[in-house]
Amino acid sequence: SSSDIKKLRQPIVTVLGHVDHGKTSLLDKIRGTAVVRKEAGEMTQEVGASVVPRSVIQKVAEPLKNIIPLKLEIPGLLFIDTPGHELFSNLRKRGGSVADISVVVVDVTEGFQKQTFESIQILRDRRVPFLMAANKIDRVPGWQPNPNQPFTVSISRQSKEVQSRLDTLIYKLVMDLAQLGFNAERFDRVRDFTRNVAIVPVSAKTGEGIPELLALLAGLSQRYMENRLKVVEGPAKGVVMEVKEEIGLGHTIDVIVYDGILKKNDILVLAGLNGPIVTRVRGILVPKPLQDIRIVKTDFVSLDEVVAAAGVKISAPGLEEAIAGSPLYVAEDESRIEQLKKVVEEEVSTIKIYNKDVSGVIIKSDSLGTLEAIVSAVSGEKIPIRLADVGPISKRDVLEAKLSEDEAYRVILAFRVRPLTGVDVSGVKLISNEIIYQLIDELERYIQEVRD
Ligand code: GTP
Ligand code: MG
Repeated sequence: SSSDIKKLRQPIVTVLGHVDHGKTSLLDKIRGTAVVRKEAGEMTQEVGASVVPRSVIQKVAEPLKNIIPLKLEIPGLLFIDTPGHELFSNLRKRGGSVADISVVVVDVTEGFQKQTFESIQILRDRRVPFLMAANKIDRVPGWQPNPNQPFTVSISRQSKEVQSRLDTLIYKLVMDLAQLGFNAERFDRVRDFTRNVAIVPVSAKTGEGIPELLALLAGLSQRYMENRLKVVEGPAKGVVMEVKEEIGLGHTIDVIVYDGILKKNDILVLAGLNGPIVTRVRGILVPKPLQDIRIVKTDFVSLDEVVAAAGVKISAPGLEEAIAGSPLYVAEDESRIEQLKKVVEEEVSTIKIYNKDVSGVIIKSDSLGTLEAIVSAVSGEKIPIRLADVGPISKRDVLEAKLSEDEAYRVILAFRVRPLTGVDVSGVKLISNEIIYQLIDELERYIQEVRD
């Protein structure tokens, strides 16, 4: 009967990996494939995300039906178009991530690099399952491209030398994954996907391997995450990815809704720089549908409601102090507001730090997600933290830094924030860097210098 049909939402898929290994190219290729293979009327746009609908996945994976039998129950895949660790950090949810599954992209000719290890550590910490896309296979010496073909088709047409060259490169990835505690195999040799990380050889340039990548993402998520993906038709839950000022709209938030239904006029509760913000949804905005694959500048259209999972821009009064990385809840009625404010406050207080008895560094960051990541990295190096908070550097931060007994800790670590005008930072060491691991490296070097 129809009530037996499981209603699943689209899984949220993120893409991580080292600089230049091909994250953006891979997403572009997937998006391009989706646009080409879509029927008229299937074209939907989202904010900070793009949807590959079920029909497209089925068409693309059609030649694979003997290897990866696919009967899709999910409506599609929601790819988050914000590669990079910092934005991934903002997909935070208490005890984990809003991302259901991830793709770690690695240039197969270069192998693991610093941010490849880092990406996997982040995913492991947040318990996000992932596939590895071994990208740029077209660069393996001697490779004969078979554009947009499944990998299994293309590899069978390569010479024995090329096949073994690729195997050697993939074996290196297997060894590096083993170092991080993961068993891994090329996807077509994996027997148990719950125990092994599947490595999918792809080329973002030629499109080879994209059919398998899409089929595996769809197949694995609906097979192993059924409970997580069950649609709950209650009030929306989401996470704030970015806070942006838009002409004519004022401050808006770009949100990933991962559960429930968001409606116009809903009461929102989210974290602000000076405590929880309570406001009402004025507009749920998505970009106007376009023919183009790449959206450069666009107008928005307003929707009355949106069902998870989705990426939308929300306009509402009072979002000036909204914090990226914040949880977002809808209060079904006014009586729920106080309770949700407490939930938000509690979540924020697990990340922020103020410990006036500690001689330690000050951390200021632009979002809750990055703050959480930096606090965890600094603590991992056994460096004490006196204060950690979101927002620009204030006079108080400077004063707090000066109160650290240990001279080596009179430091303000600044991630994408600056001192407010008129704030004098002399007398403390200000370390700014836009890459988290470099920020930590600089801090360690400075502490060492002072100690010597
Ligand atoms: P960042 O956003 O800077 O971290 O890089 P990214 O991981 O998004 O890499 P991007 O997609 O920008 O690709 C980096 C370079 O690699 C570009 O010059 C791409 O054209 C090239 N590239 C990406 N994928 C492939 C591939 O499969 N084959 C070949 N030959 N080149 C590729
Ligand atoms: Mg990129």
